[in-house]
Amino acid sequence: MCGIVGYIGYQDVKEILLRGLEKLEYRGYDSAGIAMLNDEGVHLFKEKGRIADLRNVVDGTVSASIGIGHTRWATHGAPSRVNAHPHQSASSRFTLVHNGVIENYAILKREYLQDVAFRSDTDTEVIVQLVEKFVNDGLSVEEAFRKTLTLLKGSYAIAMIDAENQEVIYVAKNKSPLLVGLGHGFNVVASDAMAMLQVTNQFVELMDKEMVIVTREDITIKTLNGDIVKRAPYTAELDASDIEKGTYPHYMLKEIDEQPFVMRRIIQKYQDENGQLTIDPQIIQEVLNADRLYIIACGTSYHAGLVGKQLIEKWAKIPVEVHVASEFSYNMPLLSEKPLFIYISQSGETADSRAVLVQTNKLGYKAITITNVPGSTLSREADYTLLLHAGPEIAVASTKAYTAQIAVLAILAVTTAKAKGIELDFDLVKELAITANVMEMLCDAKEEMEKIAREYLAATRNCFFIGRAVDYYVCLEGALKLKEISYIQAEGFAGGELKHGTIALIEDGTPVIALATQEHVNLNIRGNVKEVVARGANPCIISMRGLETDEDRFVIPAVHPMLTPLVSVVPLQLIAYYAALHRGCDVDKPRNLAKSVTVE
Ligand code: F6R
Repeated sequence: MCGIVGYIGYQDVKEILLRGLEKLEYRGYDSAGIAMLNDEGVHLFKEKGRIADLRNVVDGTVSASIGIGHTRWATHGAPSRVNAHPHQSASSRFTLVHNGVIENYAILKREYLQDVAFRSDTDTEVIVQLVEKFVNDGLSVEEAFRKTLTLLKGSYAIAMIDAENQEVIYVAKNKSPLLVGLGHGFNVVASDAMAMLQVTNQFVELMDKEMVIVTREDITIKTLNGDIVKRAPYTAELDASDIEKGTYPHYMLKEIDEQPFVMRRIIQKYQDENGQLTIDPQIIQEVLNADRLYIIACGTSYHAGLVGKQLIEKWAKIPVEVHVASEFSYNMPLLSEKPLFIYISQSGETADSRAVLVQTNKLGYKAITITNVPGSTLSREADYTLLLHAGPEIAVASTKAYTAQIAVLAILAVTTAKAKGIELDFDLVKELAITANVMEMLCDAKEEMEKIAREYLAATRNCFFIGRAVDYYVCLEGALKLKEISYIQAEGFAGGELKHGTIALIEDGTPVIALATQEHVNLNIRGNVKEVVARGANPCIISMRGLETDEDRFVIPAVHPMLTPLVSVVPLQLIAYYAALHRGCDVDKPRNLAKSVTVE
């Protein structure tokens, strides 16, 4: 969480920083700030709230060609102007932005900074105060910066400016994402390439525990021992238009609509020249070598993992366990003899998942990361990567990444089955193509979804989602989507579990959205609907063509029974979207959340 930007060049820095922060707002949006440096000194502007609020307080007359900026998702210290970044040292000579968590900040404060009057409650301030202390002790700024970094425990992406030197931005990274972007006569710093695509598409990756001296003409990467590191830039393959909303009112709606296209792109990316689905043979070999797969993920990605387990077990006949990353490190199950870890993460930056990866890497186990972001931390630190090819997902609520994750897991399952000589009686290319077409039809059913949202959810306090078999997993995802963007208390339940407790919550008019896409449990889930209706619930059944009855509210065209999550989730995404809209919520930036969760 939190996004940082920096620019040093000859252009006016204000708009570059503000536009960059707007692109990073998905990483946190409870407060923001920029600092610009010119001959008059540092001009610092901070505000609680969104970048739009920050814009209102930035003095448009300030002109500078070096600056840094930050958008915050609070960890230490409440969201406020005081706690917003950039933070300054006691004399205001040094100004710094930080993404991450300094775990030992209290110890450092006690040990080195007893006499310093702190201005904020943040862990970050300790960094900038330490730099100033070491400079006052006689070190050069670079030495003071390096010495400070060696003392920090935790995660950081840092950019710092010195009021006495308009020629340098000091940059450092450990565990939090950070890139340096290269231009002609300027260089930039950003948490994510998207922020600086406006000025360059040439980026240099930074490794953990590296620092960079960024000037207008040059960048120098160094290890914390002072050794210079040479690294070639790469071209970010993002198209600036990929990260624009276009004519859509919200990114979430755009991303829901992109799902059929993403399905088709995935088919194409994972096809060989003969049209056969294919995955790196080394990855397949690792899967074949394993006696059990452990899927590790959080949130929506975890829900995709639950569906993936079904696909891999049914098609490739390999046992799979799915674990929530934040629980895994201290609740590690007894592992099998030959485990293989699969990390699923849209962003590739989720700290909870990364913490497990660090642990399993230490134990010497092989890992595959399934991610949307090439070069992300989880991708770099795992042995193998399978890309989602979903294009940038900007809305905080994940939609197209979820369906892309399931599609890639399906491809992994089928290619593994083939490698094992298991005959499957369907062609996944054809089945995925059908799901893409059905997704398109569902995206066209917006009016109906809007009606359902209005009818069932406009005024409700809570909502339940019920399903059986694979529908249950989609219910978990449908409920997460609804609660995170509309703030309706929503829960997904296995249909059969209701009578073991949850049914006590059903009152007159409680909305219950039931998925009925699975033939083998169709009668059972309909029985569960009857049970809740008898207690006053307002049911909304979404079924699959061939299984429908007169009482169903919406019928999805049929797809392969194991691929139903790819399509049944679309109405649920749209219902959540319209429910949030009706309730006046900020769909793309729900309260308290951030897109990339880089703290544990
Ligand atoms: C919900 C959502 C989150 C993420 C979770 C993991 O809509 O987006 O639950 O799925 O924070 O993020 P990644 O997939 O980036 O590891």
